[in-house]
Parts: sequence; C-alpha cells; structure tokens
Amino acid sequence: MDENLKRYIQLLPKAELHVHIEGTFEPELIFEIATRNKVSLKYNSVEELRKAYNFNNLQDFLDIYYGAANVLLYEQDFYDLTVNYLRKAHADNVVHTEIFFDPQTHTARSVSFETVVNGITRAMDDAKIEWGISSKLILCFLRHLSEKSAEETLKSALLHKDKIIAVGLDSSENGHPPGKFFHVFNRVREEGFFVVAHAGEEGPAEYVWEAIDLLEAERVDHGVSSIDDPDLLEELREREIPLTVCPLSNLKLKVVEELKNVPVKVFLEKGIRVTLNSDDPSYFGGYINDNYLQTAEALRLSRNDIYTLAKNSFLASFITENERNIFLEKLLNFENAFV
Ligand code: ADE
Ligand code: ZN
Repeated sequence: MDENLKRYIQLLPKAELHVHIEGTFEPELIFEIATRNKVSLKYNSVEELRKAYNFNNLQDFLDIYYGAANVLLYEQDFYDLTVNYLRKAHADNVVHTEIFFDPQTHTARSVSFETVVNGITRAMDDAKIEWGISSKLILCFLRHLSEKSAEETLKSALLHKDKIIAVGLDSSENGHPPGKFFHVFNRVREEGFFVVAHAGEEGPAEYVWEAIDLLEAERVDHGVSSIDDPDLLEELREREIPLTVCPLSNLKLKVVEELKNVPVKVFLEKGIRVTLNSDDPSYFGGYINDNYLQTAEALRLSRNDIYTLAKNSFLASFITENERNIFLEKLLNFENAFV
C-alpha cells in the first residue's frame, strides 16, 4: 500500500466502538495475572496459548476467551487489563473508545460486579488524565444465558448507572436471537441506557431486524449479514443506524473466507454509517489501525473512504453534541493539514 496512506491511517483521529475488554487480554498478561493469582491455565506457555488461536467459528474462539478471563479476580486485574488496551488505543490515535465488558463471565465465578466495574473505570479515568483519551463503558449480556440472568445483571448495573452508557448483547449468536431478550431491553431503555446488540455476525439478517425493531438498538455490532437483505440495507440507511464492523474478527472466525469479502465498500456505497473496529484484538491479530490498514488494502479503499469511516465513528458515538463537534473539528483539521 501507498506509504502516505499508511501514515494517514496511523495518524487519523478515530473512535473505536466495538472492543471487548476481555478480548484485549494479551497472552503475556494472562500468564502474569494467572501466576500472581495462583490460577492454573490449560496451557504451559505464552507460545502454546498463542498456538491455540486457530478458530473455525465464533464458539471455538469464545471457549478460549472465557477460559482466559477466569484468571481475572481482583480490581487490579481489571485495571491492568484496561490500561493495557487504552495505551494501545492511544498509540493508534483513538481519541474516543466505547468499551464492552461481560459482567456475567466474572460474577458467575463470584467476582463482584463492583470489582469489575471499579477496576475498568479507574483505568479509564487514569488514561483520560495520562493520555487525554476519552472513553465510555458498555455492559453486554451474554446471550447464551437466560433472560432472567440478564435481568439480575441489569439490577447490579443500576447501582453503577453513572459509569455505564449503554447495554448490549454478545456471545454465541446462532439459536439466541435478540428477541430472547425483549423484556429486559424494555427495562434497559426505560432506565435511560443506549442499546446496542451483536447481530448478523454468524446469524442471519433476520437477527439484525430483531435487534433494530424488537430491541430498538441504536447501533448494530457486526451486522455484516445485512448484505443479504436489500430492504434491511435501505432501513439501516434511512434510520442512520450504524454498523460496527470488525474485519479481522470476521476473517479469523471464518465469517468470510477472505478479507476482501467483508462488505465495507458496499456499505459505504449504500450510504450506511459503517465503522471499523477491532472486536477482540489480542485474539484476532490486530488492533484498530491493523483493521483499517488491512481492510483498506484488501478492498482498495480510497483516502476519502477512510476519512468517511473515521467520521462515521464519531457520528455513531454515544457522546454529547458538543463532544461530537469537537472530535469532528479535530478530524477536519487533521484532514486539511495532512500532506
Ligand atoms: N464476545 C467477544 N467477542 C465476540 C464476538 N465477536 N461475537 C460475539 N460475542 C463476542
Ligand atoms: Zn464483538
């Protein structure tokens, strides 16, 4: 790729809207925390663990991802995990990030909701001071668990309402349609949270319809199977519902055979508010700039396409209009000054 376009991507101010904090857990840190917490792992070394990062589908990945999360026990563990991600995001010129966390993965092991949230948000506060990076937190319900379990999780979240901007839905998609969580998301909206949902990653376009119509999701995570339904594409465009696409994730989980099949270019051409994100960067071989770089190369994206992706990331963020205007101005200034 053109060296100047590489530099453009590297320096471009951008927002990341789809990243699971547990998916930023690097093997070195997994072993460090496992050792200090005296938790045993299925793997004997960092190299052995990395070798297991060969996935045929979403479930293959989730099994390893939940296994690694088991070593997180104390507030400091969640702090270290989050600071590590924010340092990397800052290095990629991410100026704003909206981070997912999966509380049920931890509360099921008797780690309190409070421990998890306090560790993550303390790191977010410190990173704001240290690097100026802005961040928000999004709670995700695990969709392979029951709606009742999601309701109990929401109850815990209400005690930390000021620290959580939105609620989403993740984990094993097939067989767990958004509609399974219809009632709890009514409560989520009544409580004033924004709503997002993973849909149309491995699941069909029908699940994206359920996410936007039944859960009233303001943003759809992945949503790549929307490409199969022209009426849905028109609906997403008309209602300006953003898609948080994660190309390297789609490649590593075999949602697509080749990176060039991730429909980012088509979404752009159709005027859909598509964004690029890393999902679980420590497992999928790249942070956000790797996603921009490899996607730009595979799909022959233009500088204007890349600019639109970054602009969309700010348009799709859960921030105030004042904050949005500041980020958009920063982006425009960068564009005008870049040579
Ligand atoms: N949890 C972490 N990463 C995920 C993904 N790509 N899809 C669904 N759930 C997830
Ligand atoms: Zn995800």
